Amino acid sequence: MAREFSKVAVVGLGTMGAGIVEVFARNAIDVVAIEVDDAAVEKGRGVLQHSTDRAVSRGKLSEDDQAALHSRVHFTSSIDEVADCQLVIEAVPEHLHLKREIFAKLDAVVGPDAILATNTSSLSVTEIAVATSNPKRVVGMHFFNPAPVLQFVEVIRTVVTEDEVFEDVKALAQRLGKQPVVVGDKAGFIANALLFGYLNHAVAMFESKYASREDIDAAMKLGCGYPMGPLALMDLIGLDTAYEILDTMYKQGRDRLHAPSPILKQMVSAGLKGRKSGRGFYTYAEPGSSQLV
Ligand code: 3HC
Repeated sequence: MAREFSKVAVVGLGTMGAGIVEVFARNAIDVVAIEVDDAAVEKGRGVLQHSTDRAVSRGKLSEDDQAALHSRVHFTSSIDEVADCQLVIEAVPEHLHLKREIFAKLDAVVGPDAILATNTSSLSVTEIAVATSNPKRVVGMHFFNPAPVLQFVEVIRTVVTEDEVFEDVKALAQRLGKQPVVVGDKAGFIANALLFGYLNHAVAMFESKYASREDIDAAMKLGCGYPMGPLALMDLIGLDTAYEILDTMYKQGRDRLHAPSPILKQMVSAGLKGRKSGRGFYTYAEPGSSQLV
């Protein structure tokens, strides 16, 4: 019988982390939502509030259900509060040293039966797992942005992940309304390995002034029926995140398709990170907004 999860923790409340918190809270699971300091906690709280306000305004969530959802989330800047959680998902920026540091800390605080999961998009789950004393309980649980909307989760199994651990995480993903697939520990797993070469190519096309951002996006959205164009999608993912993913995949596979287009790094250095900063390939009404100006 699969394990029942009633209390989990999410470490890192950026775009993905806050979305993952929402997914759990929507499914009646208590969540400890952790960020590094009070300011980052408030930012994460704001992302969750914004997302659920939007659902309420669209008539998809009642105000009572919104209040119940928020009451299931406990925000904190103390990682020690994961102590009684059955599962911890880490969703901090894509830096191996940072993730390894967090896993070493989590390992020391959680109970012996807790599962430790990373939402990494491209880093090695194995390298993260070996920062703990028990790599057998470490697994990848990779959500897609926007996490509350997209019904797919990649469960990454390393060569040492215990069968029971990834079976429990698979069953949990199903309970959350997601279709899980189990994949091995290779940069980009399935979806990002296929997606990011295409996105990077679109950025290179824009950079070379071969076509305008609107035309590139229209070609894929209207011409190919994708839900959004590649440059709009880059803004949704976050240019900093996209850069890190491409860089990691390039270093691992040396496929030139994944060599990050130079303009990406320049935009990130200039603070143009996409929707989250209010400007990327497009300009938005405010940071976090999807409304174009
Ligand atoms: N957070 C929460 N909910 C959101 C949301 C967000 N950021 N954006 C949209 N939604 C919800 C809306 O509230 C709406 O819900 P409803 O149907 O219950 O009212 C629903 O999603 C549809 O939204 P809209 O009508 O505003 O717009 P669209 O129909 O155009 O859908 C989209 C928006 C879901 C973002 C769609 O365009 C899409 O699926 N785009 C592609 C996204 C994609 O490819 N993501 C994968 C990126 S790669 C990744 O995540 C991997 C990682 O490692 C980087």
